[in-house]
Amino acid sequence: MNILSNKCKNIYKSKEKFLKNIYPIKKYATHKILGIETSCDDTGCAIINDKNELLSESLHSQNLIHLRNGGIIPDVAQDLHKSNIEPIVFNTLQKANLSVTDISAIAVTLKPGLPLSLVVGMKYAKHLAHRYNKPIIPIHHMEAHALVTRLQYDIPFPYLVLLISGGHCLLAVVEDVNKFKLLGESIDCAPGEIFDKVARRMKLKNVPEYSKLSGGQAVELAAAKATNPHMFKLPLPLSEYKDCNFSFNGLKTSVLLQHYRKEVQHKVVADDLIPEVNDLCAAMLMATSRHLIHRTQRAMEFCHQKNLITKDNKILVVSGGVACNDYIYNALSILCKETNYKIFRPSHKLCTDNGVMIAWNGLEKWNRNIDVVSNLDSLDIEATSPLGQSLISDVTNAKIPIKLLKIKA
Ligand code: KG4
Ligand code: ZN
Repeated sequence: MNILSNKCKNIYKSKEKFLKNIYPIKKYATHKILGIETSCDDTGCAIINDKNELLSESLHSQNLIHLRNGGIIPDVAQDLHKSNIEPIVFNTLQKANLSVTDISAIAVTLKPGLPLSLVVGMKYAKHLAHRYNKPIIPIHHMEAHALVTRLQYDIPFPYLVLLISGGHCLLAVVEDVNKFKLLGESIDCAPGEIFDKVARRMKLKNVPEYSKLSGGQAVELAAAKATNPHMFKLPLPLSEYKDCNFSFNGLKTSVLLQHYRKEVQHKVVADDLIPEVNDLCAAMLMATSRHLIHRTQRAMEFCHQKNLITKDNKILVVSGGVACNDYIYNALSILCKETNYKIFRPSHKLCTDNGVMIAWNGLEKWNRNIDVVSNLDSLDIEATSPLGQSLISDVTNAKIPIKLLKIKA
């Protein structure tokens, strides 16, 4: 039932102690929040009680099916969510030895995400809420990614967060459970998206070792085998723009171009890979890390200038599927060491999409009586939804120069 290592359990214990000081009345668990996630291609569910204990969780990943299809086909994703939602929710309840009547509220992702996927979670949550007379707590998927680290570590507000996934890339200050300030976001695609597309073009799934992995995982493993990581030169995106926005399209095009040249040079045919595939993956990973560091460095400086992060709480949280990448995480750790920031990321299982982060966000809202909705008709899904209040033009106007930190390969 418990997905956590002993180390995490110890962290939980200190977390529990810490939260008891904040919510002293709730000494014994009385409330339980059920979380449902279906925003993209994972059907997830989890139950957390108000002692911050994860009672159970279940996840159905559609990754292998979408790998075979060459990407996510929204209708296929919806059909899979439809057939998996009920077994996943009931499996979660069963593992915790609970029924829906024992649940205090149902938290469900309503935005942002693929509409055909989101609607399955919403309809199922509404169905349970109607039938068992429970309130719903609507969840913003990116807010949940930003907050879930607080389940495992004592991280007080405000803190800086870098969210890197297959659908998003953004930097924000998390001021409270429902208060976010957006400092920068991707102007085109997300880092996970380019990893997935490039991995497909490089035919990495033809290597048996990578055949069941996401594009990002495959690129990370291939890059670790590079013998000449400096063979390919890739540009630093948006280097002339003194803001905290991101861009990955140019990087993707440069990688694909270098890949094509090597295919022509080696007369690579059909299912074969280029001989330099590991070096090209390493170059892409290094360029992505450099870009992420460059923008995060500026965000730290902006927070310092505007007093958004206090000197005694210099914390960077990195989350989202791409945060699983150890090379990227280590590069960000070097930046944090230079700037006296502490860095945190959730365990790998909680970086990628899951039901736990939705239940946790639901519990944080429940504890503060935020967004606990009984009028179910007022709830609907939203495909796109900005995170918090945008400070992007303030960041741009501040024109903060940054000397890029050098990270060794
Ligand atoms: O957060 P997530 O599960 O779903 C979205 O909300 O997008 O992130 C999935 C993304 C995929 O693009 C996948 O390739 C990427 O995270 N990813 C990684 C790694 N593991 C997953 N990217 C780089 N390195 C990894 N180890
Ligand atoms: Zn996500």
